[in-house]
Amino acid sequence: MHIVAMKAITKRFGEVVANHQVDFDLRQGEIHALLGENGAGKTTLMRILYGLYRADSGEIWMEGQLVQIHSPRDAIALGIGMVTQHFALVPPFSVAENVIMGYRESVNLDMKAVEDEVAAAAERFGIAIDPRAQVRHLSVGQRQRVEILKALFRQARVLILDEPTAVLIPQEVDALFETLRGLRQQGISVVFISHKLNEVMAISDRVTVLRDGQAIATMDTATTTPAELARMMVGRETFGVTRQGKHEHSAQPVLQVSGLCASDDLGLPALKNISLAVYGGEVLGIAGVGGNGQKELAETLCGIRQPTAGSLRVNGREMRGASPAEMSAAGVGRIPEDRHAGVVGELSVADNLVMEVLPRFTRYGVLDRKAIGQYAQELIAQFQIKARPEDKARTLSGGNLQKVLLARVLANQPDLIIAPQPTRGLDVGATEYVHQQLLAQRERGAAVLLISEDLDEILALSDRIAVIYEGEIVGVVSVEEADIERLGLWMSGAVKEENHAPAEV
Ligand SMILES: Nc1ncnc2c1ncn2[C@@H]1O[C@H](COP(=O)(O)OP(=O)(O)OP(=O)(O)O)[C@@H](O)[C@H]1O
Ligand SMILES: [Mg+2]
Repeated sequence: MHIVAMKAITKRFGEVVANHQVDFDLRQGEIHALLGENGAGKTTLMRILYGLYRADSGEIWMEGQLVQIHSPRDAIALGIGMVTQHFALVPPFSVAENVIMGYRESVNLDMKAVEDEVAAAAERFGIAIDPRAQVRHLSVGQRQRVEILKALFRQARVLILDEPTAVLIPQEVDALFETLRGLRQQGISVVFISHKLNEVMAISDRVTVLRDGQAIATMDTATTTPAELARMMVGRETFGVTRQGKHEHSAQPVLQVSGLCASDDLGLPALKNISLAVYGGEVLGIAGVGGNGQKELAETLCGIRQPTAGSLRVNGREMRGASPAEMSAAGVGRIPEDRHAGVVGELSVADNLVMEVLPRFTRYGVLDRKAIGQYAQELIAQFQIKARPEDKARTLSGGNLQKVLLARVLANQPDLIIAPQPTRGLDVGATEYVHQQLLAQRERGAAVLLISEDLDEILALSDRIAVIYEGEIVGVVSVEEADIERLGLWMSGAVKEENHAPAEV
């Protein structure tokens, strides 16, 4: 008998069918991966199980009983717990307080006894956490452990984790998997949502693939392969783009940064004494957990944010204090991190494509509409954009929008390309496309600075890898010498303490 059986679940949001007649079942004591691309309907299905959404139709059965789940309260009472990507912890409170909050009356509580109880539970479930620590002092990975413990403390027999590894460094992923294996041994069932094939292969007993809101198949993980899973997930063969071999890079760096400092939007130091160089014909990958200065670094290198100290040379020329337009004129191409902010939605695709080169299409102060249309048509063909020049940018999908942004930047053949999180939120097809384009720029001899929170992406594309932690470059290696263990340690900041000299890249 299945601990959970969801039958013919359908859920619509307006026009969108997020789940269409989905069957999903969960055995006791299994780790069941729910795999699918962005927007496939994974979160929706599990939010229905956890009582956050109501299905339009379909049934949920638990241990042979038809159940009605109207709220998370109902789900918890049935032994279902869910850890979402957005934690709901109270930072000034301790771990123990957060764990019991809303579960037990907290007036007149013997905190010592509660702490002991929480410590015992953490021990039993194999979760390394100090019950007395204040949540505000914890890392993202540790906060996730508190959320898991909180669900287990409420006697969850079914634990749903929505892309839990997205916020973790490799070592934390290992620790999480260790915990999940322990839970399985105690008979707890885990739903592990992911779009990462290697993780699904490593941790799950069975896997259900969702595509466009439909369940494509459920399989024993041991009987399938990453290639087969990828095909089911995407609906066609995928190849995976990686850089080919070592090759010559320019003698002089295209970008040379030394001692660069900058502040964040609150005026606090965000970049601390950053030194790095990027040569023509290479991809330098900047790895790191999100929020460690990546955004500020990209903005500073493009002239959007002004440095507070240090020097920034492009092709040997000092550019500190330059505006975005001056940076662009000096050969710096920026692929905007926020795709939607990077275009003007109400303007046409053509207008968005020429936005940065308008003078080229202006005669005696008048725009040459015909030339703009022609230029747009060429770029649309060259970059395989699925849109017409006159379509409004806001009607484009994320993948096509990213193509417009790439076309706009790359058509100018920049010497240096700054690419912060260029594939975030894109599907596999669009991601492969972006990777190919960036590698084509490397082939052309351009210098590419790739900033990404996705370590697999960094490893696939980069010639050299630098790790950013709390606004500092804490280490740099060539991709041949890079090992995940060491990169993970750098990303966690563990190395910063032992080696305080800022790394030269
Ligand atoms: N609250 C909502 N309102 C409107 N549309 C929604 C809502 N939640 C989800 N959708 C839509 O339903 C579809 C499935 O979304 P869902 O979040 O379940 O996908 P997912 O597989 O979890 O994707 P991701 O990997 O991006 O988290 C998408 O098209 C999404 O835009
Ligand atoms: Mg989701």
